Amino acid sequence: MAELVISNVDKIYRPRRKKPVHAVKDLNLSVNSGEIVALLGSSGCGKTSTLRMIAGFEDVSNGSITLDGKAIHTLPPSKRGVAMAFEAYSLYPPLTIGDNIAFALKSSSLPTVEQQTRVKAMAEMLDIGGILNRYPSSVSGGQQQRASLGRALVRDAGLYLLDEPMGQLEPQLRAILRGRIKAYLRQHNCTTILVTHDQTEANALADRIAVMEGGILQQYATPADLKARPANLFTGTFVGEPPMNVFPAEVTATTKSVAFRIGERTSLTYPRSDFSSEVVQALSSIKKLAIGIRPYALHVGKGPIAGQVVACQWLGDQTHVAIEVEGRTVVSVAHERIKEKPGSSLALEVSASDLHLFDAENGNAIAHGGQLA
Ligand SMILES: Nc1ncnc2c1ncn2[C@@H]1O[C@H](COP(=O)(O)OP(=O)(O)O)[C@@H](O)[C@H]1O
Ligand SMILES: [Mg+2]
Repeated sequence: MAELVISNVDKIYRPRRKKPVHAVKDLNLSVNSGEIVALLGSSGCGKTSTLRMIAGFEDVSNGSITLDGKAIHTLPPSKRGVAMAFEAYSLYPPLTIGDNIAFALKSSSLPTVEQQTRVKAMAEMLDIGGILNRYPSSVSGGQQQRASLGRALVRDAGLYLLDEPMGQLEPQLRAILRGRIKAYLRQHNCTTILVTHDQTEANALADRIAVMEGGILQQYATPADLKARPANLFTGTFVGEPPMNVFPAEVTATTKSVAFRIGERTSLTYPRSDFSSEVVQALSSIKKLAIGIRPYALHVGKGPIAGQVVACQWLGDQTHVAIEVEGRTVVSVAHERIKEKPGSSLALEVSASDLHLFDAENGNAIAHGGQLA
């Protein structure tokens, strides 16, 4: 059963004497009970607006939001049963860190001792147990951010909304807290929406990821599906590190083979049997084709994609190899150490099962690995 259901929601800001901003466009999204969903997208894509509408700090311009089957978009924030950790922390300056975390518990029926136990455990989980008696103005931004996160998580709520909850923390601490927070959310069966622009964080924490761009939901899928079956060129290139290589291509299919020409001197040719007949059929009507190949699907060796090495970067467990192919930079990731000097010749190969085919005119995926998208 879907716990949170967002149906046809728009957000249009109408600032005075300025043009309206259509920040969220016809959003449909549902989150299951106990599910952790990441809202992933670049700055300004509408993530915070979406959370604020769910929490009730912004009105929806159109559409509806239900929690457990009950419409909440018309209720005041305090009546929605939603806990939110804000991007800008918004702690109460006259209260200590401990009292900030305890704030929502004070009005609950929970016994004081139990409140204190919870606050202490939460602070310890977030590594801020030593600053509970300090005031927000005397602790770092990262500590304030964790206090704000603790204030939201310590509550009993039907839904937890976390807006970039670890944006101010250094990578090491972020990695540690990610594990603890995920364990906490699972243990308490918290239905959660986590906003982030960090795909590592989204992959590590979320059951499903909603990718947004320009106020529009681009794809909503598991982390594995987002990688293997990107719905369009946007998610294909946005998700995955280093980014997917994209080539404009011309396709020629015969009864025996399918060939993709990706340059004056470069073609990828495969047996016809590597592609389903539906894919070959679909390709015949595409005017502009784009091929996407993830860097780790490009293997150094004998292959049709030949060029000159620009750089080899050994990262300790993998090598990022950049080669120039007919004026275009192509990136490959190898698990072994590759030491080729800049300027030396190198060839790359890719199997048909690793090709992502897109209609370049609208960006939509046509096929992944020889099967229809
Ligand atoms: N109160 C507001 N008034 C006018 N425009 C706003 C307001 N809040 C956000 N916006 C605009 O809406 C768009 C989405 O913003 P936001 O939801 O904060 O994005 P994100 O959290 O993904 O960075 C941006 O173009 C932003 O400038
Ligand atoms: Mg934001």
